[in-house]
Amino acid sequence: MYQIETLKAISTRTSIRRFLNKEIPLEVIRNIVEAGTLAPSGGNRQPWRFIVVTDKSKMKKFDPYYNQKCIKDAPAIIVACVNPHDTWEKYDEDDNCYILDTAAAIQNMLLSIHAQGLGGVWVVSFSKQAVRKELDIPLHWDIVSIVPFGYYDGINNKTPRRDISEVAFLNDLNNPICNN
Ligand SMILES: Cc1cc2nc3c(=O)[nH]c(=O)nc-3n(C[C@H](O)[C@H](O)[C@H](O)COP(=O)(O)O)c2cc1C
Repeated sequence: MYQIETLKAISTRTSIRRFLNKEIPLEVIRNIVEAGTLAPSGGNRQPWRFIVVTDKSKMKKFDPYYNQKCIKDAPAIIVACVNPHDTWEKYDEDDNCYILDTAAAIQNMLLSIHAQGLGGVWVVSFSKQAVRKELDIPLHWDIVSIVPFGYYDGINNKTPRRDISEVAFLNDLNNPICNN
C-alpha cells in the first residue's frame, strides 16, 4: 500500500490545500491514524486522541472566521486532540510533553497521507470552540490542530527553506553545518 520510502516522503511532502471530491477508503484512513499512533511520546503515554471527520455538516462549522477552502472542501479532516491528564510529567520547568507528543503524531500522519498518494495540511487557524461543540470533545482535552486531507491533482509546489547553515550547527554555534 505504501508507495514511497521514508526519506523521499520527507523531502517531497508539501502542504496541500485543494482536494478532489473523491472518497477516501477506510483502509487508507486507518493507515494514516495508525502512523500517528506510532509516533514517539514522553514515557510512551500516547496521550493523543484522533477524531476523523467526514461529515460535511460538521466540518463546515469548524472555520467561522476565515472560511478557508482547505477546511470547507476537504473530504476528511483529522482533529488531533490530547488528554493532558494522560501526559508524562518529567518534573522540570516544562512538563508539557503532551503537545510535543501530539505534534510528532501529526507529522507522522502527514507523511503517511503523502506516502499513500494523498495530500494534507497542518492547520491551527480554526475555531476550537466550534470543533469542541460539534464533536463533543470534553472540556479538559486540548484540541491541538486539525489536518484536512484528501486526494489532489498531484501538483505540489515546494516551499522555500532556510539554508541548512543558518539553522544547524556542529558542536557550537560558530560551526554551521554546510551543504558541501
Ligand atoms: C504548527 C503549524 C500550524 C500551521 N497552521 C496553518 C494554518 O492554519 N493554515 C494553513 O494554511 N497552513 C498552516 N500550516 C502549514 C504551513 O503554512 C506550511 O507547513 C509551511 O508554509 C511550509 O510549507 P510546506 O508544508 O508545504 O512545506 C501550519 C503548519 C504548522 C507546522
